[in-house]
Amino acid sequence: MSKKRILFVCLGNICRSPLAEGIAKSINEKENLGLTIVSSGTSSWHEGEVPCEDSIRVAKLNGIDISQLRARQVKMSDKELFDYIIAMDRSNKENLEKMGFTNVRLLGEFANYGNRDVPDPYFFEKFDDGIKKVYMMIDQCVKDLLERVNNGSL
Ligand code: 4NP
Repeated sequence: MSKKRILFVCLGNICRSPLAEGIAKSINEKENLGLTIVSSGTSSWHEGEVPCEDSIRVAKLNGIDISQLRARQVKMSDKELFDYIIAMDRSNKENLEKMGFTNVRLLGEFANYGNRDVPDPYFFEKFDDGIKKVYMMIDQCVKDLLERVNNGSL
């Protein structure tokens, strides 16, 4: 398999896409897939910040440390740098397409989520099942995505 580069994108790069990045990196390391994995936000609002508390916490509950990640904004030059651009929801995808990205997919295309948007935990009121469900969706979709990238069917 040629080495592939994946960019996960949400709005702030502090809640959803850092989870996708952390989960994907963990699989990549365990299975030695040789992938390059990065996440970004379409906005610059949180650049340089750590992931949101709930995402750090739910990842930790699942044995993944995302506390060292820092938010970065998507760049025009990312168009040339990544083989797969995976948006968390439709508005992220539309924003990327307005920037001229042509190969954007939704994470919800994978693992039988029927193309659903990943709900935005930034607007959840407390740490509860909401963030756990978001984690489960991201986890299942990322696993399916990586399997398909790895077996060459994507
Ligand atoms: P994310 O969540 O896109 O999953 O990182 C958000 C983070 C921050 C904001 C919105 C969504 N915000 O409005 O600042």
